[in-house]
Amino acid sequence: MAIKHDIKSLTLASKGKGRIEWTARQMPVIDQITKRFISQKPLKNLKVAACLHVTAETANLMIALKAGGAQVSLCASNPLSTQDDVAASLVKDHGISVYAIHGENRATYYKHLNAVLDTKPHVTMDDGADLVALIHTTRKELVAGLIGSTEETTTGVIRLKALEGDGKLLFPVIAVNDAKTKHFFDNRYGTGQSTMDGVIRATNFLISGSRVVVAGYGWCGRGVASRAHGLGARVIVTEVDPLKAIEAVMDGYDVMPMSEAASKGDVFITVTGDCGVLRPEHFLKMKDGAMVANSGHFDVEIDVAGLKKMAKSTREMRSSLVEYKLANGRRIYLLADGRLVNLGAAEGHPGMVMDMSFANQALSTEFLVKNHKTLSKKVYSVPQIIDEKIASLKLDSMGIKLDKLTAEQERYLSSWSAGT
Ligand code: ADE
Repeated sequence: MAIKHDIKSLTLASKGKGRIEWTARQMPVIDQITKRFISQKPLKNLKVAACLHVTAETANLMIALKAGGAQVSLCASNPLSTQDDVAASLVKDHGISVYAIHGENRATYYKHLNAVLDTKPHVTMDDGADLVALIHTTRKELVAGLIGSTEETTTGVIRLKALEGDGKLLFPVIAVNDAKTKHFFDNRYGTGQSTMDGVIRATNFLISGSRVVVAGYGWCGRGVASRAHGLGARVIVTEVDPLKAIEAVMDGYDVMPMSEAASKGDVFITVTGDCGVLRPEHFLKMKDGAMVANSGHFDVEIDVAGLKKMAKSTREMRSSLVEYKLANGRRIYLLADGRLVNLGAAEGHPGMVMDMSFANQALSTEFLVKNHKTLSKKVYSVPQIIDEKIASLKLDSMGIKLDKLTAEQERYLSSWSAGT
């Protein structure tokens, strides 16, 4: 049977195949899960609609789900993150339906979301909650057939908790992002490395000795600040949360409001998850040559419309880098159109961390299949037993062994009477 798809070109498949196989080498936990899924088929006859970044790492998750017996269809969770060669290989070599084209416009983006929903899925898998939002607005007829959903990212979990808080969530959702084996690693080390990779690929700018301003000191901001510092940058952090701000200070960074940082930075990176972080009042204060990039989920952190309005002229300097010349004569450089710079200008997080994130996706899907009858219309955490299992499998794959508590240590930890 022909595999339904809407991708750039099937002729790209052989390049995508190599990328998927190379990445698989860095995803040993997914490999183990795939092998178990092949023998146990826990997802037999399950229809999964996934809206994720269409990358080589995601491809390995899709292959694992299919190995478990699922019928999978995939669309992009961001118009700029699709790797067209990977999409082609998924269709041609793995028989997986993909609807995603790098650079697709908004109308095509939503056409593709609707295409995966047309499969009448039992489980949806989101990175940013767009499928769930669509189901709750224009595709409510699908609710009856759904057993639940999973969510990959901080921004998506925030949206879903708002939906739950309004009493409007219509099925259970597992917040994959909140698993420790997800956000401690993917958000920090993955975003940290891939964001700096995106900034460097877009600009070829020397980070060493430069002033990098990181807006937001959540798990992603911590990662970006630490990797920028590691490359030799003098890092400034901006924050609204006093606890995160004091942590940034004690980690050794300067902390100040964006109104002050604006005139100091060479490179600005937003990772707050909120809108309007870099606004016209900030652009006006920036130095000639300042570079602005976003690594938060949605393209709302930099006021790109405001920047366009202020600009007397714009020109593309190189791939993922556009110059905006302001009336004051200064030039500001916008990376990846203000969309996720790590996926727009680079390749996203490496397989080594996506291994754990996507192991959470695969095992949460299996958990939904086994437990959906007892779940309510709530946002659930990934069960701790799954989180710990993934950490153990990852350590095993790295050949790292742990100590074990002695009987005396176990007794000591469970006693309240042993004191001074
Ligand atoms: N999110 C961040 N990096 C990613 C990657 N490489 N693949 C899929 N989703 C991602």
